[in-house]
Amino acid sequence: MIAALIGAAIIAALLVLEFPRLREARQIALGQSVYAANCASCHGKQLEGQPDWQTPLPSGRLPAPPHDASGHTWHHSDEVLFNVTRNGLKPYAGENYESDMPAFAGTLKDDEIRAAIEFIKSTWPEREREYQRQMTR
Ligand code: HEC
Repeated sequence: MIAALIGAAIIAALLVLEFPRLREARQIALGQSVYAANCASCHGKQLEGQPDWQTPLPSGRLPAPPHDASGHTWHHSDEVLFNVTRNGLKPYAGENYESDMPAFAGTLKDDEIRAAIEFIKSTWPEREREYQRQMTR
């Protein structure tokens, strides 16, 4: 009886401790498939961005920047990354700003946008993650 109670207590403790990690792993897995289906065509399968991404295209618009640590995605807070993905760049850069970055509000659910961003963040080394954590505070 006591052994069973102790066993149950251990299982409960493990669930409480592991649950956030399981949830995080599930969110990142969702984000990975959202990214592959909706972002990789421009930002690259390996998050490498478009070639020569700092030089404007013939259209005058900017190429898609990398989302890996070589880009500047990690300079922005969670809120900025979410808003840019959901609403595009116009709210930040002005109504007349022309960009190839789509607004995903009509295409993706907020949870899917958050998951894609968590997936992107999960690929960064600790230094970039820590910097981005500071920006998010
Ligand atoms: C049709 C091409 C295209 C697709 C698809 C696309 N993007 Fe972009 N994205 C761009 C371009 C181009 C820029 C740079 C725009 C500028 O600065 O004018 C950009 C910029 C961004 C930025 C701001 C720059 C940065 O690194 O912080 C974020 C965040 C972003 N994209 C996230 C996403 C996410 C997440 C997805 C998928 C859900 C996605 N994008 C899909 C083209 C695309």
